[in-house]
Amino acid sequence: MPDIKYASMPVISLDDRQWPSAAITTSPTWCAVDLRDGNQALPNPMTPQQKQRYFDLLIDIGFKEIEVGFPAASQDDFDFVRNLIENGHIPDDVTISVLTQCRPHLIERTFEAIVGIKNCIFHVYIATSELHRWFVFGLDDQQVIDTAVTSIRQIRDGVRAMNDSKVMLEFSPEEFTDTTLDYSLAVCDAVVDEWAPDPGEKVILNLPQTVERRLPNQYADMIEAFSQRCKYPEQSIISLHVHNDMGMAVASTTQALMAGGQRVEGTLFGHGERTGNVDLITVALNLEYLGIDTGLDFSRLPEISQLVAEVTQIEPHPRTPYSGELVFTAFSGSHQDAIHKGLSRKDELATHFDGWKVPYLHVSPSALGREYERFIRINSQSGKGGIAHVLERDFHVQLPRWVQIDFARHIQSRADDTSRELSRDEVWDEFTKTYVQSERPIKLINYWPRPSDEDPSIIDGEVHLTYNDEQQVLKDSGNGPISAFVHALKQIDSMPEFVLDDYEEETMGRTADAEAVCFVLLSNCDTGQQFIGVGFGGNIDQAAVRAVMSGVNRMLGT
Ligand code: KIV
Ligand code: ZN
Repeated sequence: MPDIKYASMPVISLDDRQWPSAAITTSPTWCAVDLRDGNQALPNPMTPQQKQRYFDLLIDIGFKEIEVGFPAASQDDFDFVRNLIENGHIPDDVTISVLTQCRPHLIERTFEAIVGIKNCIFHVYIATSELHRWFVFGLDDQQVIDTAVTSIRQIRDGVRAMNDSKVMLEFSPEEFTDTTLDYSLAVCDAVVDEWAPDPGEKVILNLPQTVERRLPNQYADMIEAFSQRCKYPEQSIISLHVHNDMGMAVASTTQALMAGGQRVEGTLFGHGERTGNVDLITVALNLEYLGIDTGLDFSRLPEISQLVAEVTQIEPHPRTPYSGELVFTAFSGSHQDAIHKGLSRKDELATHFDGWKVPYLHVSPSALGREYERFIRINSQSGKGGIAHVLERDFHVQLPRWVQIDFARHIQSRADDTSRELSRDEVWDEFTKTYVQSERPIKLINYWPRPSDEDPSIIDGEVHLTYNDEQQVLKDSGNGPISAFVHALKQIDSMPEFVLDDYEEETMGRTADAEAVCFVLLSNCDTGQQFIGVGFGGNIDQAAVRAVMSGVNRMLGT
């Protein structure tokens, strides 16, 4: 780091803080500011049509407060607000918010934008930090308070003239966290004094971390101290608005909720100036995880993510909490193994822990609409459990443990060779290429097993095959069709002595005509080497014969 000494922040003194032991038990009110704070930070701002799609999306998710723009600063925003009002696009239970600075002509223009509205939040802001007061505005402390109060008076008079509209005031002391608490309180108290709310009426006091320059605990301290000391706690709604410059916006917002915050402003996926606003999806889903009903519906998160990416032209990072493409994916062997076991016993686990709990998965992917994805993916880091999971999930083949161990080695070396992730089809290709070798050097033409005439408990078998393209007919008996087949094969000249060490069979599916798969483990008695063979067939016997064929061919191929 270059040798820069950064200025220290105004000191907050709060000795008896309560918030660290507070629990969040109810949902805050949510206000989506995507169409304002989010939009104003996009390289390509939304078109009116895109804004409308986004607005409808926010309604579908369940937002009841939506900041739709800064109509006095942008003709597009002005027209958008007019369109919403004139064409009846705002549901009765939704309140839109419009933002303006504390400047008379902007306030006047904002009133023009909201003519005819039923419910509205009139959001006005002025920066209160010393940095802004002195160096940006060139105003002293009292002049900033006077500017704010004059604007509030203008808004109050304007609202009184609007007969059929319900207008709520929101005031933001911009750069709240870079302002001394005494001064923020002086400005906000003066604002509420001037507004003079009716009994039961509330004013939203939105206390932003305009630039995140503090740790989350300090923001929480400021929110607790402000809530305790503000003049009208009963008539105020303490609102949080956090930017993510230090990457802690979610933590700041969450701790500030513990400290008394009642309302949260933010955006989907954290779009907004610089590093963005707080990501409402993460904050809300964290609360849902804690058992709090947020009133927001993210059960179709992939669709939401797609629409937002399309409109903003910014793809979410694949590791974005909850919504990123990779957030439920495991590549590492030990994780895959645990997930595989956890998912196959998830009901049992839920009963044991009295709630959903699966190793390495924070929440249930299906609760967020991520049902049909492949969460276990294969690369050189993957292990036997994950590879077995892919074969089971995508190809309905359940590998015995001894096959899993062997196959993992093949997959790891293929992944090492390619230095990339392997697709499901490549995993299948590797499986069949390795274990299913029914053609060379021996190719089975036909096999007829039938009960012996002398003793029906004995099976006589007749095998027709080619060995290195030469036809042979072999006959032998055994106590079952497989042993008769093995005995017949052993008659081949130059066939090494071998034994069947292990054998497993299963059906691939639940229907009556499901295919069967069989795994055999053969040992070459001369060398001690073992060979796995796999066979598929319309019935178990057919699959078993083909598995033996594959095993023998592998043995002869070495
Ligand atoms: O970040 C901020 O301070 C703002 C205000 C206008 C609330 O966006
Ligand atoms: Zn902001």
